[in-house]
Amino acid sequence: MTSKLRLTIAAALMAAFSTVALAQSFSALRGSTPLNEETTPPPLTPEMNTSVREPRSYPEQPPVIPHSIEGYEVSRRANKCLSCHARTRIQESQAPMISVTHFFDRDGQTLASVSPRRYFCTECHVPQHNVRPPVENDFVDIDTLLKVKGPDSGARR
Ligand code: HEC
Ligand code: HEC
Repeated sequence: MTSKLRLTIAAALMAAFSTVALAQSFSALRGSTPLNEETTPPPLTPEMNTSVREPRSYPEQPPVIPHSIEGYEVSRRANKCLSCHARTRIQESQAPMISVTHFFDRDGQTLASVSPRRYFCTECHVPQHNVRPPVENDFVDIDTLLKVKGPDSGARR
C-alpha cells in the first residue's frame, strides 16, 4: 500500500468515526427531536447556594462560585462582585480576596487595582447548577493520577 493511499484511508475512517460520535452526542442532548426541529429546553434550575468553597481540579483553575449571583450586575458602570471580593471590602464581607493575579496586567506588572483583563468576573468564574451533565466527564486530577500505579511505576519509585 502506498503511503498516500494509507493516508486517504485513515482520513476516511476518521471522518466516519467523528460523524458517528457527533450523531451520538446530538442524540444525547436533543432526545428524540429531529435535527431540523428545535427542542424545548428544560427549565433552568436554581443556582447552587451552599457557601462551601468547592475543590479545584488543578492549581490554575478559576474556583467555581459557591453562592448564587442572580441579579448581580457586572458592567462598565458597576461590579457587584467587587463590593465583597475587593481588597478593601473583605473585612466586612468575609469573602476571599481576589488573588494577586487579578492585579497583573498583560506584561506582568502589578497594578494598584483590579486589572481590566480580570474585571468581568464571570468570564472565568461560574455559579453551579445541580444537573446531570449531558456529556460524561472522566477527568481525574493529578493527585489521583499519581496514586495509580502504572506498569513501570516500580522502576521509578
Ligand atoms: C455579598 C458578598 C458577595 C458578593 C456580592 C459576591 N461574593 Fe463571591 N463569595 C462571597 C463569600 C462570603 C464567599 C465565601 C464562600 C461563601 O460564603 O459563599 C465567596 C466565594 C466566592 C468564590 C469561591 C472562592 C474559592 O476560593 O473557592 C468565587 C469564585 C466567588 N465568590 C466569585 C464571585 C463573583 C464572580 C461574584 C459576582 C458575580 C461574587 N462572588 C459576588 C461573597 C460575595
Ligand atoms: C481571566 C480569568 C479570570 C477573571 C476575569 C477573574 N478571575 Fe478570579 N481567578 C482566576 C483564576 C485562574 C484563579 C485561580 C488562580 C489565582 O488565584 O490566580 C482565580 C481566583 C479567584 C479567587 C480565589 C482567590 C484565592 O486566593 O483563593 C477569587 C475570590 C476570585 N478569583 C474572584 C474574582 C472576581 C471577584 C473577579 C472579577 C472582579 C474575578 N475573579 C475575575 C481567573 C479569573
